[in-house]
Amino acid sequence: MQHHTVRPGLAALALSLSLTPTLASGQAPSLRTLASARGLLLGGAISGELFNTDNPDEAATVNREYNAVVAENAMKMRAIANSPDPGNYLFATADAMVASAQKNGQTVRGHTLVWHDSAPAWVYEIKEKAAMRAAMTQYITTVVKHFGDRINVWDVVNEAISDGPGNPLRNNNPFTVAGPDFIALAFRMAHAANPAARLYYNDYSVEGLNGKSDAMYALVKGLLADGVPIDGVGFQGHVDINFSVKDSGMQANLQRFRDLGLDVQLTEVDVQMVGNGSEKEKLARQAQVYGELLSTCLAVKCSAFMMWGVSDRTSWRAGGKPLIFDDGYAKKPAYGALLRVLQTARK
Ligand code: G3I
Repeated sequence: MQHHTVRPGLAALALSLSLTPTLASGQAPSLRTLASARGLLLGGAISGELFNTDNPDEAATVNREYNAVVAENAMKMRAIANSPDPGNYLFATADAMVASAQKNGQTVRGHTLVWHDSAPAWVYEIKEKAAMRAAMTQYITTVVKHFGDRINVWDVVNEAISDGPGNPLRNNNPFTVAGPDFIALAFRMAHAANPAARLYYNDYSVEGLNGKSDAMYALVKGLLADGVPIDGVGFQGHVDINFSVKDSGMQANLQRFRDLGLDVQLTEVDVQMVGNGSEKEKLARQAQVYGELLSTCLAVKCSAFMMWGVSDRTSWRAGGKPLIFDDGYAKKPAYGALLRVLQTARK
């Protein structure tokens, strides 16, 4: 056995250098450098804007700051399967995004295989159980196999739980024609198509302890009891600056899913600036919420913190300026809050 004698001061220095990456120039490290150092996926949703050469800030920001990306729309059923014929599936945009991610060393989250909101018209015409099961199987198998090991994280089912009293499954979901086990079926099909992929159920307004998160808890617990191959839950995280991480019981909520043996990811975080108050106050409050969301995620050992976009300019909720880069891609206070949490939170 070799013995190395290292002076304690040098050992501590070496350790701190490996824990807190900095750039040779002395500049602050990027979010992705810090996230990668702790094995966290951190990134956001990308759109066609990534390829807009008139707006080079978009790609520059994504590739400098994100170690993971998710297509905002390009992998949805309506984008891929305008026609039921797999021979006519449209993969060009999604493939270009995956190629860009691979070139830039980014993990891709696949979003999403089964979502009522994104079902093309032909899906609504299917009224027979067997036909719907066949259509789902064909679509899921074709898409998951198409991406193969280029995508090993999938949102298999998105937003199946309603917001109505008691939070039953939605009744406006065309896939329910496949039978009450349509969710289990989707997970089984995705697993068969790519056994290495980690499979998630993803939903919104489930961050805290509430009726909807109770319904989601019961749903995934039932799936696990039935031996369905589900690996984790995605909590979207579309909130605003009035959201209280503490009062909502978010950490206890995430933890109860972890205690089922499931992985937890924040998948679509954005924090709208709403209400009265000065711009400065709202930016500060937004930073606080972002910081608390990330530290809560890390406290339960989540595996991903994904934001729903890049800059306020192209956000789906542009009016609420909900992201960490402003219209001109400058870092907002929320960016600094994430950086500080990554630098200081216990590993
Ligand atoms: O690209 C077409 C364009 O050709 C057409 O002219 C235009 C007319 O409406 O529509 C364009 O497509 C729009 C697409 O966004 C791209 O901008 C769709 O109408 C519009 O419905 C679509 O909205 C997306 C929405 O999901 C529905 O798919 C949002 O961008 C996207 O941010 C949003 O993302 C969802 C997540 O997937 C799931 N969780 C909630 C989240 C926010 O709603």
